[in-house]
Amino acid sequence: MHTGFQPSWVLIRTLDTTETGVKARTTGTGNHVTRDTVHTLSTMLPIDQQTILITGATDGLGHALARELGVRGATVLLHGRSAERLAATEHDVRRSSGSDRVHRYRADLSSLDAVRGLAREIERDQPRLDVLVNNAALGSGPPGSQREVSADGYELRFAVNYLAPFLLTRLLLPLLSRSAPARIVNVASVGQAPVDFDDVMLERRYDGMRAYSQAKLALISFTFDLAERLRSTGDAHVTVNAVHPASLMNTKMVYEAFGYTLSTIADGVAAVLPLVIAPELEGVSGRYFDRLEDARAQPQAYDLEARRRLWRLSEELVGDTSVASTRDN
Ligand SMILES: NC(=O)c1ccc[n+]([C@@H]2O[C@H](COP(=O)([O-])OP(=O)(O)OC[C@H]3O[C@@H](n4cnc5c(N)ncnc54)[C@H](OP(=O)(O)O)[C@@H]3O)[C@@H](O)[C@H]2O)c1
Repeated sequence: MHTGFQPSWVLIRTLDTTETGVKARTTGTGNHVTRDTVHTLSTMLPIDQQTILITGATDGLGHALARELGVRGATVLLHGRSAERLAATEHDVRRSSGSDRVHRYRADLSSLDAVRGLAREIERDQPRLDVLVNNAALGSGPPGSQREVSADGYELRFAVNYLAPFLLTRLLLPLLSRSAPARIVNVASVGQAPVDFDDVMLERRYDGMRAYSQAKLALISFTFDLAERLRSTGDAHVTVNAVHPASLMNTKMVYEAFGYTLSTIADGVAAVLPLVIAPELEGVSGRYFDRLEDARAQPQAYDLEARRRLWRLSEELVGDTSVASTRDN
């Protein structure tokens, strides 16, 4: 439940700052909170030295977040699927921020090959990546809409909203790790439904809201699993969290599916921005935030067996997740 402006992560964290950085802090594992005094984590670079990639930056929340980060001085990497919309977004972010450190990358996330191409271009062009914001998504579509498939033949919302960020994150992890401390922010939703492992591609019972909600829960499960894996491999200086930005913001996916709105894009930016830049969240990983609240996701996200099963399935569906797989032949 959203209780106002005081973020609960401010209440739960414990910091013990030394000259070399933050030593003791509260970290999350998706189902409990642990105090991690082992890792010594240096702090993030000042915002004007950071490079931040935002997927789906050509509209709604992603566009507004890009503008906000540009104004704050970050190097902003805009991702979108349309060349025209990307050019217009780049123009807008440059104009509103007065910064020329704004770059664009085009990739249709409904193709896993395009996701690989995006990762390849970013690896090629960018010496560092401080934050990856997996924001791009398709909404549930107009009421009564029919099932669609991706270029790879997968259910479209599962592909764009979950498999694409799963693969992109895996491919960009080496760059994030080299730039650490670094953050991954997965823009999820309160709209969550358990993955039905007998019908993941929703061939039997398709419903747009179910497709959207299943993909969002998969993204949260991935968030929790990845945080644990990064911690166990000593990569805890790359953190990953998921967030529900706001309910029914005034964006096109909401107009298409609901026809009315309950909150604004500015509300969404206010929820996502701390996960990108707040120093208080350094070292906090594996958590799901409902706006500014540290919150509980749908129960399947805490089911270890379901999570491992989803991870294995995702690897099978996307194929090779090594950076080498993105290199030109
Ligand atoms: N709106 C809400 O109330 C709400 C609530 C909870 C969570 N969220 C989440 O917040 C995030 C942003 O949503 P929004 O409301 O800002 O949505 P939006 O205005 O519809 O923007 C979605 C963005 O994703 C891009 N995108 C969609 N399909 C793509 C594809 N196949 N390849 C590449 N890019 C693609 C869109 O590109 P184009 O510009 O080319 O269409 C656009 O830039 C999403 O993850 C959404 O699930 C939103």
